[in-house]
Amino acid sequence: MRVAVFGATGAAGRRIVDAATRRGHDVLALSRATGVDVLVLDQVRDALAGADAVIDAVNTPTLHAQEATEFFRAAAANIVRASAEHGVTRVVALSIVGIDRNPHGYYAGKLAQERVYADASVSHTIVRATQFHEFAGQIWSSGGWGPVHAVFPARLQPVDLGELAEILVDAVEDAEAGGIRHVAGPRVEELPRLVKAWARATGHRGIRFPIPAATDQLKGMRDGANLPDAALDAPLIVGTIDFDAWLATQRTR
Ligand SMILES: NC(=O)c1ccc[n+]([C@@H]2O[C@H](COP(=O)([O-])OP(=O)(O)OC[C@H]3O[C@@H](n4cnc5c(N)ncnc54)[C@H](OP(=O)(O)O)[C@@H]3O)[C@@H](O)[C@H]2O)c1
Repeated sequence: MRVAVFGATGAAGRRIVDAATRRGHDVLALSRATGVDVLVLDQVRDALAGADAVIDAVNTPTLHAQEATEFFRAAAANIVRASAEHGVTRVVALSIVGIDRNPHGYYAGKLAQERVYADASVSHTIVRATQFHEFAGQIWSSGGWGPVHAVFPARLQPVDLGELAEILVDAVEDAEAGGIRHVAGPRVEELPRLVKAWARATGHRGIRFPIPAATDQLKGMRDGANLPDAALDAPLIVGTIDFDAWLATQRTR
């Protein structure tokens, strides 16, 4: 199958490209770095010529609801439109567990993205994942002022990107796919512990500075809104690689 991966140079996208290539697919790796801006319809159209399937793993760094909404809505609309024009039969979009319970900030953009797919005529599957194990390092890097690194309280059930990438490719290969699937790691964790363990294991020196959850999005994460729970009305796939096992592989790199 010819599989187009949007966001192919990102944390998730790289792993998806690896998994799909290993499984014998002809992979189109798409991002601005490879000359395709998902916000430019003509570029998306040209990129999807000959594609059978699409995996949407694009991202934007903003945490603001309006900016995130504009980005994800426009990106998904272009993918949907070009997919329909080219007769792409399967689209898989990578989303996040709990965004309907925590529809604030960046997550408002993810909900807007899901709604574009829900309203589209093209056949699609939404894969809602929990935070990646890499999230701890992303928080360390993004919340730093010199040697000080702000860490907010959050409960999460992080997932291994290698396992998640295989599940995304499963969804592309599954002719019966559709609707929403949830994917989580095997253990509920507290973010401050993960950031501390990550910094120690990877040799990042600095001061961890606990901050309160100051926005609605962070309050939701603090209260566990992005954990999979028994109330999920869609299938839940639980990975086997927990944060500590993943971190041990990072240490030896
Ligand atoms: N991080 C998490 O813990 C987590 C958990 C669950 C789900 N997710 C979801 O997973 C998806 C991927 O996240 P990630 O952390 O892997 O993202 P990332 O590392 O920030 O990568 C983003 C990707 O999007 C591409 N991109 C950004 N703007 C683009 C544009 N205008 N046109 C084309 N490509 C563009 C980037 O490439 P260029 O810069 O080259 O364009 C890059 O390949 C996101 O939708 C996110 O919501 C993330």
